[in-house]
Amino acid sequence: MLVAGNWKMYKRPAEAGEFCRALREADLGTVDVVVCPPYVSLSEAVAALAMTEIGVAAQNVHWADEGAFTGEVSAPMLRELGVYGTIVGHSERRQYFGETDETVVQRIAAAVKHGLHVIACVGETEAEREAGETEAVLRRQVGAIRDGIVDVDDLVIAYEPVWAIGTGKTATPEIAQEAHALVKSILAVPVLYGGSVKPENAAELAAQPDVDGALVGGASLDVESFATICREASI
Ligand code: PGA
Repeated sequence: MLVAGNWKMYKRPAEAGEFCRALREADLGTVDVVVCPPYVSLSEAVAALAMTEIGVAAQNVHWADEGAFTGEVSAPMLRELGVYGTIVGHSERRQYFGETDETVVQRIAAAVKHGLHVIACVGETEAEREAGETEAVLRRQVGAIRDGIVDVDDLVIAYEPVWAIGTGKTATPEIAQEAHALVKSILAVPVLYGGSVKPENAAELAAQPDVDGALVGGASLDVESFATICREASI
C-alpha cells in the first residue's frame, strides 16, 4: 500500500521543510509514504526526510536530459537532488498544459530510464463518464502507457476520475474498484486511487481488492490529516 501526497502548487521551501520535519515524527502506520512538493521545495523536503523511509517525488519531468526547453526540469536534475520519483500525466497537466498520451509516455520513458519511480495518472472527466466513455478513455490512456513503456517495474498508475479531484466528490469504493480492475486488466501494475481522498474515506477505499494505495491532493497538505490517511490505509 502506497500513499502519496500531491502538494500541487502549495508549500514554499520553508513550509515544506517544516511539514516534512513534522511528518518524520508522525505515526504513519505501515504504508509506504511519498510526498510530492513543487520543484522549488524538493531540496528542503529531501533534506528534512533524509534517513527516513519517506520518499520525495516531483510532480512532473521532461523527456530530454537537457536542452532548450524553457521552464522544464529533467530526470537527471531530479536525480541529482536526491528525488526518488515523479508524478506524470496528472489531469491538471492534461487539462491546463496540453499534456497528451504521447507526451505522458515520453516523460515516463525518460523517468524510468534514469531510475525514477513513476506515478502515472489516468482518469475520465465528468462528461466522459456521463457519456458512458469511462472504459474507452481508460483503455486509451493506459493502453498508450502499456504500448510505450517496456520496463514497468518502477511504475504505478493512479486512477483519478477528474470529476472527483478537488471537488469533495469521492468515487464510491465500487466505482474505484471497477476502474482499478479494468486498469490492471490492461497493464498489470499497482493502482492508486486519487480524487478527494480524506481521513474519513481512506479505509473503505483501501479495503477494495484492487486499490493499492492513494494519491492525495488537498488532504495531504496538513500533517495530521495526511498521517491519518496513511494510518487508515494501513491494512
Ligand atoms: P484531491 O486531489 O485529493 O485534492 O482531490 C487529488 C489529485 O489531484 O491528485
